[in-house]
Amino acid sequence: MSHRVAVIGGDGIGTEVIDVTVQLIEQAGVHLDTTEFDLGGERYLKDGTVLPDETLDELRAYDAILLGAVGTPEVPPGVIERGLLLKARFALDLYINLRPFVGENHEFVVIRENTEGTYAGEGGFLRYGTPNEIATQGSVNTRMGVERCVRYAFSLAESRPRKHLTLVHKTNVLTFAGDLWQRVFDEVGAEHPDVTTAYNHVDAACIFFVDDPGRYDVIVTDNLFGDILTDLGGAVSGGIGRAASANLNPARTGPSLFEPVHGSAPDIAGKGLANPVAAVLSGAMMLDFLGEHGAAARLVTACDAVDDDGDTATIASRLSALL
Ligand code: IPM
Ligand code: MN
Repeated sequence: MSHRVAVIGGDGIGTEVIDVTVQLIEQAGVHLDTTEFDLGGERYLKDGTVLPDETLDELRAYDAILLGAVGTPEVPPGVIERGLLLKARFALDLYINLRPFVGENHEFVVIRENTEGTYAGEGGFLRYGTPNEIATQGSVNTRMGVERCVRYAFSLAESRPRKHLTLVHKTNVLTFAGDLWQRVFDEVGAEHPDVTTAYNHVDAACIFFVDDPGRYDVIVTDNLFGDILTDLGGAVSGGIGRAASANLNPARTGPSLFEPVHGSAPDIAGKGLANPVAAVLSGAMMLDFLGEHGAAARLVTACDAVDDDGDTATIASRLSALL
């Protein structure tokens, strides 16, 4: 059986790490029927295309989307991020952003709400460019959006040996959004008496990520806290070159999107220096979601064992030898 996968290599090191990933997936024994989509900053510079609705509709027909990285320094901030990546996350309702972290004494997963919060795009300018200018950027938290994310987190925690879930927020300052998150967390928690729970303020969580990450099993948090925490998670788990992520539509009403946490790294692009492990691990998460558990596990085992000191080709051939 083959899976139809839309491949968006994107910009910079994105295409480099995705090429390696697709090859290794095939070597792991899963046939992918891939279609490449030329999207990202470079494409935008060529003809102004970001992610047209027709392209989005084409993407809906695939079993999954595999994305390298998008972003080019020549394009103003936000154009590609909002117009492509966030548009895909929102339009395809990829409301769970799952990011696993493994280190010497820790193994935990961050579930980042992926469609709301400060990312929702609420706000705007008043008196733009004047001395009395006002810029607002609100955080949108819906009961539905928080609840479906928290429910997913409890179910995931319940399926793991430790059955422990930590809510990370800033309830002492964000008293409206935080209150909603905490109430939903407590309510859903009452339905899962076998899951033990904890709460950390996000600033304290930053200390624990560095000093005592072993305390965590599953973390659930909002979009922006999750964005920041997962870069830190990568930094304390072998580096951002190993950090993988899945943007999931758990209801499977459309494709889910898999991408490394890292960006397009223009400073090392084209030099063959990118670490492909994060992309390969994201590919493994895709295989898992597609039901290819054996091949996914083989890729993860290879990534865990690989010496990832070296250039892209060297790491790729070591991974290949480990499969
Ligand atoms: C990530 C990235 C994105 C985000 C950017 C590129 C929009 O940093 O996936 O973590 O902020 O979500
Ligand atoms: Mn990020």
